[in-house]
Amino acid sequence: MSLASVHLRGIGGYLPERVMHNRDLEALVDTTDQWIVERTGISERHIIAPDQMTSDLAVAAAQVALADAGMTIDEIDALVVATTTPDFIFPSTATVVQAKLGGKDFPAWDIQAVCSGFVYGLAQVEGMMRAGMFRRVLLIGAEAMSRIVDWSDRGTCILFGDGAGAVVLEAGEPDDENGMVGSVLHADGAYRDLLKAKHPHTPSSPDRANHHQSADFQVDSAGSAAVEMKGNEVFRVAVAKLGGVVNEILEKYALQDADVDWLVPHQANIRIIQATAKKLKMDMGRVALTVARHGNTSSASVPLALYDLYQSGRLERGQLILLEAFAGGFAWGANLLRWSK
Ligand code: UT7
Repeated sequence: MSLASVHLRGIGGYLPERVMHNRDLEALVDTTDQWIVERTGISERHIIAPDQMTSDLAVAAAQVALADAGMTIDEIDALVVATTTPDFIFPSTATVVQAKLGGKDFPAWDIQAVCSGFVYGLAQVEGMMRAGMFRRVLLIGAEAMSRIVDWSDRGTCILFGDGAGAVVLEAGEPDDENGMVGSVLHADGAYRDLLKAKHPHTPSSPDRANHHQSADFQVDSAGSAAVEMKGNEVFRVAVAKLGGVVNEILEKYALQDADVDWLVPHQANIRIIQATAKKLKMDMGRVALTVARHGNTSSASVPLALYDLYQSGRLERGQLILLEAFAGGFAWGANLLRWSK
């Protein structure tokens, strides 16, 4: 059996209305616009409204992607949401999104690989579609990171933003050379403590205020779930792993640096992006950049950056696009895609 090709037919994005500028952060923590811009490249980020949920951002991005593909939700065979900030512990945000979009019966599930969620999701869906499991899949990266940020921690609260990006993928003829080329994924849980957010039900410490214990069991009720990060250590490993994974994926598919037309990186920090572009000997003019306007939107950052590039009108059929991301876990990876719209 020959494997199907996998094509991106539609793409969309959504950013909540409220914009938080670096100046607004100066009022919250001991920081300056200059420090944030110089160390991260971020100037502003979007913040979810009090009455919005992650699923609402996902739905808005999905509607744009479906319209772009010229499809309705009834034509979709599966729906995957990559998110670190789900509406609920369960049900999955994907099922909430399915219902809000008016979809029925087809499978819907979440994927959790933090900032690498979209890259992981694309690899997973690609494999399933190549094997003939699904013909049309809606893949969304959606986050409300502002809901899990510690707004008193200047080392992390300046970095994140909210938003969603979505793509509609469709299986095509096996011999079509456009579409997905392939993916590479990695994780190393030895680094798990460098970047994390405890779950509200994660036991925190033996003397926690809301600790309940009897002879037979102990439980924790609600605690706080805030991002904790050893920033400079994460930075160092991110630069090294991303440099490695972009080389690895090109080697795997017998391609060269010079074959890549566009780099669409995870938008965590402009200095990390510059290091990866340098590794690929790519001019920054060939790199999708949203970090200044969006900050780090975790699993939404790669599809939002791709959507931004698409909207700029610079993508051409047949061009080779390299997507990459690095995340807590650590979990990292890359995808190669030949633009076929
Ligand atoms: O998406 C998942 C992956 N996440 C990342 O890739 C994030 C990776 N890390 C980073 O982007 C950077 O490490 C940060 C932007 C978080 C921090 O930049 P840095 O250049 O690594 O700074 P640092 O943590 O080494 O801190 C340098 C100094 C410290 O002060 P002292 O100890 O030298 O006096 C910090 O306390 O900068 C201070 N600092 C700040 N100063 C003003 C830390 N945050 C701030 C701030 N404003 N917001």
